[in-house]
Amino acid sequence: MSKKRAVISAFGKYAPKRVLTNSDLEKMVDTTDAWIRTRTGIVERHIVAEGEATSQMSIQAFADMQKRFPIDPEEIDLIVVATVTPDMFFPSTAALIQNGIGAKSAFGFDVSAACSGFLYALVIATQFIENGQYKKILVFGADTMSSIADYTNRDTCVLFGDGAGVVLLEAADDNGTSGIFDHILKMDGAGKDFLYMLGGGSLHPATHETVDQKMHYVYQEGKTVFKFAVSRMAAVSEELLNRNSLTGKDIAIFIPHQANKRIIDACVDRMNLKPEQVLLNIDRYGNTTSATIPIGLVESYDDGRIKEGDIVLFSAFGAGFTWGSILIRWGHLRHA
Ligand code: UT7
Repeated sequence: MSKKRAVISAFGKYAPKRVLTNSDLEKMVDTTDAWIRTRTGIVERHIVAEGEATSQMSIQAFADMQKRFPIDPEEIDLIVVATVTPDMFFPSTAALIQNGIGAKSAFGFDVSAACSGFLYALVIATQFIENGQYKKILVFGADTMSSIADYTNRDTCVLFGDGAGVVLLEAADDNGTSGIFDHILKMDGAGKDFLYMLGGGSLHPATHETVDQKMHYVYQEGKTVFKFAVSRMAAVSEELLNRNSLTGKDIAIFIPHQANKRIIDACVDRMNLKPEQVLLNIDRYGNTTSATIPIGLVESYDDGRIKEGDIVLFSAFGAGFTWGSILIRWGHLRHA
C-alpha cells in the first residue's frame, strides 16, 4: 500500500470588518504610530464587533473556504481548533464550530499552544490522516486577542489583532511526494513566567479581585520573549531544513508567525531568504496568535506565490514557550 500524506486541499480566512489603526491607538494610550511601525511593523489590526467571538470568526473562515473550494460539511470527520481565546472554557470551540457549519459526522477538540497552536493542531491532524483513520479534517487557527488585551496598557494592546483561518487536510495517494512531509515541535515550560494570562483558570478563578488586578489580560515581558523568539524560531527552521537536506534556496515561501517584523527579519537573515520568499502581513493584521499562519497561507496563494510542487515552510514561536516548524510540498488542491 502506498504511503499516505496529508495535503492541504482547501483553505479560507476571515478578519473582522472593524479596523483599529495606530493613529486610533495614539488616542487611547501613550504611543505613536512611528514607535509601533518601527518596533513591530504593525500599521493596523482587525477587531471583532460586539458579540462576535472566536467560533463566529472561524465559521466565517469556513464560509470563505466554501466559496473557494465547495465541500459538503457532512463529509468532515474531525475539527481541530487552535486557540487561546475560546468563546468559553467549555464546550470547546470545535463543538461550537461543528454545530455552526453543520458538520454532523465530525468530532473535534481545541488545542492550546498559543502562537504555535496552528502548527501543533496541524501536526495532530496529520497523524490521523497518515494512519488512515480519517479522510477529511478541518484545522482552524483562530483568536480574539482583543478580548484579553488591556487597552490602557501600551506594552501589549498595540500588538494584537483578531482573525481566523482554516485549512482542509485530506490524504493524497501519490507515494508521499506531496503534502506535509516533516515537522519539529518544541516546548520549554520555563517560559511560563514571560507570557501568560493569569486570571480565570483553576489557579485564579474569576473574582472581583482578579478583575481589579487586571489578571484577565495578556501579560508579556516583551524583551525576553523577543530574544527567545528570534533564536528559537530561526534554529528550529534551520534544523528542519538541514535534516531534509534543504537550504533557504529550496523554499518557495516562508510563512512565519507574525508577532514582530524584526523577529521575522532575523529568521530570514539566518536562512538567507530573499524578501520575495517571505510572507509578511503583520502591517495589516498585527499578531492574531493562532491565525497568523493560516491567514498568511491564504494570502500567499491569492498573490500567486504558491504553486504545485513548491516547498512551503511554516514557523512559529509563542507562549509556553512553544515553537516549531513544518515543511510542506504543495499540491492536490480541490477543484474550485
Ligand atoms: O507572539 C507571541 C510571542 N511574542 C513575541 O514574539 C513578541 C516579542 N516581543 C516584541 O515583539 C517586542 O519586545 C515588543 C514589540 C513587545 C517591545 O519592543 P522592544 O523593542 O522590546 O521595546 P521594550 O519593551 O524594550 O521597550 C522600549 C521602550 C520602553 O521605554 P523606556 O523604558 O526605554 O523608556 C517602553 O516603555 O519603549 C516603550 N514602549 C512604548 N513606547 C511607545 C513600550 N511599548 C510602547 C508603545 N509605544 N506601544
